[in-house]
Amino acid sequence: MSHQILEGKKGIIFGALDDQSIAWKTAESVADAGGTFVLTNAPVAMRMGTINALAEKTGSQVIAADATNKDDLEALIDQSQTILGGKIDFVLHSIGMSVNVRKGKHYTDLNHDWMAKGWDVSAVSFHKLMQCLYQKDAMNEWGSIVALSYVAAQRTFPNYNDMADNKAYLESIARSFGYFFGKDKKVRVNTISQSPTLTTAGKGVAGLDGFLKYAEKMSPLGNATAKECADYTVSLFSDYTRKVTLQNLYHDGGFSNVGVSQEIIDAISSAE
Ligand SMILES: NC(=O)c1ccc[n+]([C@@H]2O[C@H](COP(=O)([O-])OP(=O)(O)OC[C@H]3O[C@@H](n4cnc5c(N)ncnc54)[C@H](O)[C@@H]3O)[C@@H](O)[C@H]2O)c1
Repeated sequence: MSHQILEGKKGIIFGALDDQSIAWKTAESVADAGGTFVLTNAPVAMRMGTINALAEKTGSQVIAADATNKDDLEALIDQSQTILGGKIDFVLHSIGMSVNVRKGKHYTDLNHDWMAKGWDVSAVSFHKLMQCLYQKDAMNEWGSIVALSYVAAQRTFPNYNDMADNKAYLESIARSFGYFFGKDKKVRVNTISQSPTLTTAGKGVAGLDGFLKYAEKMSPLGNATAKECADYTVSLFSDYTRKVTLQNLYHDGGFSNVGVSQEIIDAISSAE
């Protein structure tokens, strides 16, 4: 897919850690579609990851920013506009982290300081980012802001732990801020609810392998890959989706609307 539907559009992409990251694939797809952008990640992630290779490949510059730090966000937005030569057309928030998930804390025994940290990184950072963009009037009209979510925001997946609550909050922020961004700036704000995907963040969730197989069998079209998510995001950054806003858009092969699939019934029946 290399239609130049983002020709002339400029943006900021958060969250490319390594070549498995959804944000990494998105950067590649956006570049293929003719968009230009600044890449950003937390300073600590830059030391661990390989973001400079992606920057070289896509002709982008990298700016470190902790998405929970408003000073970092302000500097990032100012510098990005200087580098890109004007206001911004698209932003991808591809950020998630739970200390409780990382440390294997059960949902019934959460450390609430860690819970607050994960909430700040995974959800409130989206508000901080949009508030900076809004107050600086940094977005072009008909621009597009996308964050990544997961169906555990609506339905219970025990191993997703406090990330489920963070995603519910993230989706609510998208609607609440999206209202004002739409009214005042003609900018759209959406979340994409993506299939489980093998990435660094994904692997942190206990039992991911079994769950990937389960989701694959439940989804009429199969699980959506990171590359497919990237291509979907390109469409949301393009002028073909100008009136889509305040939505949580499922990109999951149909998983979210299936009660049970025949494959799962067969697997359970044969195991008995
Ligand atoms: N992998 C899945 O199964 C899956 C499914 C649905 C949604 N998502 C969501 O997709 C998004 C991207 O995750 P991914 O799966 O590509 O994993 P990933 O680990 O590659 O990306 C997560 C990113 O968040 C960044 N990050 C963490 N703390 C930060 C901070 N303080 N400031 C700035 N950046 C910070 C990390 O450095 C990393 O680049 C997340 O929101 C995740 O919850 C993932």
